Amino acid sequence: MSTFQCDFLVIGSGIGGLSYALKVADYGKVILVTKAGIDDTNTSMAQGGIAAVTYPPDTFEKHVNDTLICGDGYCNEEVVRMVASEAPAQINQLIQWGVKFDRKPNGQYDLAREGGHSEHRILHHKDITGAEIQRALSAGVRQHPNIQVFENHFAVELITQHHLGRVIHRGDPDITCFGAYVLDQKTQAVHTFLGRSVVVATGGSGNIYHTTTNPRTATGDGIAMVYRAKGAVENMAFVQFHPTSLYHPGERPSFLISEAMRGYGAVLKTSDGKEFMQKYDPRGSLAPRDITARAIDSEMKQRGDDFVYLDVTFKDPDDTINHFPNIYQKCLSVGIDVTKDMIPVVPAAHYLCGGIKVDMNGQTAIKRLYAIGECSSTGLHGANRLASNSLMEAIVYAERAARHSLATFKSINNSTRIPDWDYEGTTHNEEMVLITQSYKEMQQIMTNYVGIVRSNLRLSRALNRLDIIFEETEELYKKSILTRELCELRNLIQIGYLIIKDAQNMHESRGLHYSIDYPRQMGTEF
Ligand code: SIN
Repeated sequence: MSTFQCDFLVIGSGIGGLSYALKVADYGKVILVTKAGIDDTNTSMAQGGIAAVTYPPDTFEKHVNDTLICGDGYCNEEVVRMVASEAPAQINQLIQWGVKFDRKPNGQYDLAREGGHSEHRILHHKDITGAEIQRALSAGVRQHPNIQVFENHFAVELITQHHLGRVIHRGDPDITCFGAYVLDQKTQAVHTFLGRSVVVATGGSGNIYHTTTNPRTATGDGIAMVYRAKGAVENMAFVQFHPTSLYHPGERPSFLISEAMRGYGAVLKTSDGKEFMQKYDPRGSLAPRDITARAIDSEMKQRGDDFVYLDVTFKDPDDTINHFPNIYQKCLSVGIDVTKDMIPVVPAAHYLCGGIKVDMNGQTAIKRLYAIGECSSTGLHGANRLASNSLMEAIVYAERAARHSLATFKSINNSTRIPDWDYEGTTHNEEMVLITQSYKEMQQIMTNYVGIVRSNLRLSRALNRLDIIFEETEELYKKSILTRELCELRNLIQIGYLIIKDAQNMHESRGLHYSIDYPRQMGTEF
């Protein structure tokens, strides 16, 4: 077991963690730990792009308005205004780091449109924007002499006064983060990583559900760690289901059919080829995601169908292939030529709007600890995230957290009193099936009872069922060798608990939380 010390400890290697690392690296030593390879992130899989006001007739006011409408009354307007207005400068920063966004023949950026946006404002790189951003940022991080990257290192717990023997309670004003205990997955040793500033940028938790567009790495680790460390977590009820993932049973993660395709003109249809979205919202196939996903869910349930169709066959084939080369190739590989065939699609868990509560500098309720990106809850997304606002949020908060930690880190010293990881577990390696079966059961519980449409009865049933798996997993955790799989299961159960509890506390249907016990008139009742 070793101790590693640095000025800035970053956990996670998506857009939030990498941007923060690049911004602070000229001023001190950065250690970045990531549980898989540096590029195995949700950022890499983002297709549509990154929203920002670029040219007239778009304005900050319009972007703010679209975000507020989509957030269904739950956004923090001050945050929305700040993020929208600071986004263009951070887009320029991405471009300086080498990110290439598509341009039109006249040299202007080719801006796409997605659901809930009143203007074309999505900067993109074909339909693989996230992969392009990840490429440029991880290249920069690898080249920087002050940044040391630890791949295949899994952060198990944040280190606070609890590890110095103090009893701490949620809400204590002086809880402080000193670093993290991190499992080296190759040697199974748990090392101590200390940082003067610590950043959690661990992404989302889509694997809580059976069908998700998220990679297998999205297991809510940062949120669960912060919750266990007695930090503040909020708005967990608001899980965004992307309306259109490719219906291809058995494939995990589900392949995303970008909303940019509907922005380009594609239309949702039932299996008999009829359009249905106008029944639910005047914006049709480009309604915000909460409404679109619920409408699809409703049509599938009423008709007994396993999917609906997305139809782009009426558009110019060359144009479609040029705009969506990745989607075209993927669909072709499973026998669907999108220029001739309608695409079977289903909603899939995609994004968690809630998470670790942070202020406008990305500071959590725990001192010296910041959270950036999907794991955080800034107030931008409210009850429903506007498409392509999340990469934008991550770069704005990376800048703000970087500025704040640069202004404070010199007055902080790494603690010398931190004990080594004290793991009670025996060396007993329980059968893997105990973990995999509980993982599947947890996904079934969340999918069947805590999905797109919920009810009081479903939520309480989910909580009872999850409690059994929670007890069993804690027992297993105490007595078996620490593995990434076991820790991920434990974290996801924690996330499931937080989602259910938050949903139970909602006595209304709002944004992404829809309960049949609190019906809401939206175009058509469904
Ligand atoms: C998409 O391309 O549809 C995803 C964009 C997003 O989730 O923001």
